[in-house]
Amino acid sequence: LDNGLALTPPMGWLHWQRFRCVTDCVQFPDDCISEKLFQVMADRMAEDGYLEAGYEYVIMDDCWLSSERDSDGRLQADPDRFPSGIKALADYVHDKGLKLGIYEDYGTNTCAGYPGSLDHLEIDANTFAEWGIDYLKFDGCNVVADEAMEQGHLEMASYLNQTGRPIVFSCEFPLYRGDAANYSVAIEACNLWRNYHDIEDSWDSLTSIVNYFKDNQEKFASVAGPGHWNDPDMLLIGNYGLSYEQSKAQMTIWTILASPLLMSVDLRTIKPEFRDILLNPHALNISQDPLGLQGHVHKTIDNIDVWMRRISPVAGEQFSLAVGFVSNRKDGYPYRLEFTLESLLDLEYPGAYVLMDVFGDTEDILVRSIDTLEVRVKPTGAVLWHLVLQSF
Ligand code: DGJ
Repeated sequence: LDNGLALTPPMGWLHWQRFRCVTDCVQFPDDCISEKLFQVMADRMAEDGYLEAGYEYVIMDDCWLSSERDSDGRLQADPDRFPSGIKALADYVHDKGLKLGIYEDYGTNTCAGYPGSLDHLEIDANTFAEWGIDYLKFDGCNVVADEAMEQGHLEMASYLNQTGRPIVFSCEFPLYRGDAANYSVAIEACNLWRNYHDIEDSWDSLTSIVNYFKDNQEKFASVAGPGHWNDPDMLLIGNYGLSYEQSKAQMTIWTILASPLLMSVDLRTIKPEFRDILLNPHALNISQDPLGLQGHVHKTIDNIDVWMRRISPVAGEQFSLAVGFVSNRKDGYPYRLEFTLESLLDLEYPGAYVLMDVFGDTEDILVRSIDTLEVRVKPTGAVLWHLVLQSF
């Protein structure tokens, strides 16, 4: 969507994966979907380095709504869980230097059964703008006519545009439309879009999404770029389902895919080693590279995927590179690969690069594309290299 927003993949925090639809604030006062939860996460993002690193959107997902619209047909938040209202929450978040995202659905109801936006697109776009919303996630449950979704999303994008407020538009229709999804419309109407099923807190779920992206990698790379991104869903990092190595693997793949980086973790209790992965400056540099080229699996050797993304700086026809080694192996030792960059990546031109091991603690080294290098990748883990092209 050409609205000047999301020129690099959006970064933020989205409640769904970790907090779901907990509405009982008596039994679960710290975890329920309430203004307090978003205020507390905004505090953590502003104070613990996330905002400084680039994570700027605090995004509400399903289950913030009241069960009815008000007497004027406008959306309203659940009065018990959001007693101050969404405008006050937006003010709170903005005061911290952050931005607020919200969720609605193109159908009659959201997936969790709250009022949807069907037949209310314009009034809802205006309400969000009046509240000071900066990002809208738009779902596709309970849609009456699936084939009308593309047109409906173009209409919603236009109503959002007419408000005059910059609002990132995150769509889900490609997921619901599957093979029938019109990605040209996604580029035109949306800043980002979900392509596949919801992520769950496990390596298996993550792998199924990554496999879908691998199976469609040329098609998906061709539709991604500044202002319009594929979204393989939230980061699981810091939750219950991924090990430390697997968390590095998710960061590696999401970074190379130029994916939105939407954390969904309890920032009050996240362990420091997982926080360090989310805040890793080299990984974030690759993720946010201004060229916005989506990477791909270049080849697979001995069940280790070699991911590659072209990044800046560029000299002539040569690019700097992000190279990720992600192991799908389950045998229990760090598997060793030996190669030259020229042969591994089928580089057309000889070159020299400064090699940074993103998650390692070794010094940066200068390497030539014809030098023999080695890497060791732990089972279901990853190594990510940032290779900065040297001109000489
Ligand atoms: C389905 C979406 O794909 C999820 O990300 C989440 O928004 C839920 N709906 C909420 O009901």
